[in-house]
Amino acid sequence: MIKQFIVDVDSGLSQPQKQLPSKYFYDKKGDELFVKIMSLEEYYLTRSEMEIFNEQIGSIIDSFKLNKATYFELIELGAGDGSKTRKLLKALTDEGYQYDYMPIDISQNALDKLEESLANDLPAVSVKPQHGDYFTILESLKNSHHPKVLLFLGSNLGNMPDNTASEFIYNLGRNLCCDDKILIGLDMIKSADIVLPAYNDQQGVTREFNLNLLHRINTELGANFDLELFEHIPEYTEHEGIAKSYLKSLCNQEVTINATGKVYSFSMGEKIHTEISRKYNDSIFDHILSPTDLVITAKFTDSKQYFADYVLTRVRAEPDK
Ligand code: AVI
Repeated sequence: MIKQFIVDVDSGLSQPQKQLPSKYFYDKKGDELFVKIMSLEEYYLTRSEMEIFNEQIGSIIDSFKLNKATYFELIELGAGDGSKTRKLLKALTDEGYQYDYMPIDISQNALDKLEESLANDLPAVSVKPQHGDYFTILESLKNSHHPKVLLFLGSNLGNMPDNTASEFIYNLGRNLCCDDKILIGLDMIKSADIVLPAYNDQQGVTREFNLNLLHRINTELGANFDLELFEHIPEYTEHEGIAKSYLKSLCNQEVTINATGKVYSFSMGEKIHTEISRKYNDSIFDHILSPTDLVITAKFTDSKQYFADYVLTRVRAEPDK
């Protein structure tokens, strides 16, 4: 893990347009900051998706077209914050569906916490945490041949460029059988006056979240970034539909990273690109799905049409090997 972190930081900071992968936001501190972000007034994403779950959970479940008597696997990519999933778990259990809930996460700590809180709040739900990488686990679950519903909520897909997102969904589909489902939550394209504040909140939590990446490089890779000398810069145009976060150098400066054994120069005003958060509409999402074996079979939106949860169905069977 740490080796990959060193390689990614070195290659990202050695390019003409410096960049750092957003997956490195999520250390312990980053996880805590993201939990804070989700409850910020400006961060409408979590609230909007929660509204969909609160208001339309029955229709969402119906769209899975499951037989109550047939056992199925409800697999979540990421342990999540749990609140939306809890709503779904409770409704499925109340309605008498037979299933195991299988959250997959790379963090054993996140899985332990989730398992403990679900044991308290929803003791009737059978929880089978799966520790590891999404695709390794999905590959191993594929042999079970039970119907599957995959959850990928919170517009997490939006942190991937479109070609990576397409490949990611294609690979999810490869691990599913015909008629299996994916419930995927996506943030919709809307005007900058709504999107930009979500990535530039008044309290400065998103700023701290972005700068935490440099703090992490300092502590884990022995670097000397001065966090006071970088500024959090969010950008978004409705035309493009992609929120982008940068860290801008406030002066000409040099930073040493012991783990790479190199010194990196930053000129005044130079920006490190740290994150994209893609916003969608039906045609962008259709384009992303086009090389996959998945089709949209239902769509649920909140009352402001800010956010959508799409149900995808795997349509083609795996070719005979
Ligand atoms: C996890 N992901 C969907 C969040 C987003 O909105 O792109 C991460 C985030 N970055 C800044 N604020 C929240």
